[in-house]
Amino acid sequence: MEYLEFAIELARSAGDVLKHYMSREKQVELKGRANLVTAADKESEALVIRKIRERYPTHAILAEESGASGPSGEGKWIIDPLDGTTNFAHQYPFFCVSIAFEQHGQVSCGAVYDPCRDEMFTGVRGQGAFVNGERLHVSDAPKLGAALLLTGFPYTVREKIRVAMSQFERFIIDSQAVRRGGSAALDLCYLAMGRCDGFWELDLHPWDTAAGLVIVEEAGGRVTDFRGAPYSIYKKEILASNGRIHQEMIQALSRVPS
Ligand code: IPD
Ligand code: CA
Ligand code: CA
Repeated sequence: MEYLEFAIELARSAGDVLKHYMSREKQVELKGRANLVTAADKESEALVIRKIRERYPTHAILAEESGASGPSGEGKWIIDPLDGTTNFAHQYPFFCVSIAFEQHGQVSCGAVYDPCRDEMFTGVRGQGAFVNGERLHVSDAPKLGAALLLTGFPYTVREKIRVAMSQFERFIIDSQAVRRGGSAALDLCYLAMGRCDGFWELDLHPWDTAAGLVIVEEAGGRVTDFRGAPYSIYKKEILASNGRIHQEMIQALSRVPS
């Protein structure tokens, strides 16, 4: 598929930018109290946008650092040039590039590249999900009690500390274990791969979840909001799972006062 091939090319070249900056001293700026941006975020995004403008001048772009640009109508590229900036700034090797393409309001394909492990996750609607060319399948964990869950804390966590901690507490009690990795796009890919069984998070943005969404769904997973209603990358709640533990996760979330 033409757009996926291009998304892979973009993710790989942006990954090279991250690799270049990885071991160098980071110039970190603050966008919010704990929301960082580095030269690598900016350069990675600038490169991706330049390549899209050259190849598809009529497409729209939504990118984390520069927002929305370009004409609307024919399709939209949704870009997180570095997902896991805090990890990156601390040399914690769990971050990635996420590139997705949306057509007629639906994410049609996506690529997520982890430069630390050289893992390229891809998904095309109706054609499956893959990591480095190998087909992905979600896990078959049948019960929440046997599940490994992933989550993250949004930059709004300080304002939402009670609800975030109550959800965290609920799942620590109900599941086998919970991990907090620091890259939502990779969390979703790990779910697609069966490295975990479920994921939830509050207040993510379209660029965090767009590519991961199609990868999880094409690996046989289920993605909704916290109540089980259809997910959209423009919604503020995401609940993703292997499908088998989804209902139990919805029930657990419904027991947490919001
Ligand atoms: C963040 C990561 C993190 C999640 C945050 C995101 P960024 O993205 O995905 O895992 O918990 O909510 O904002 O800022 O590193 O691109
Ligand atoms: Ca992100
Ligand atoms: Ca980012």
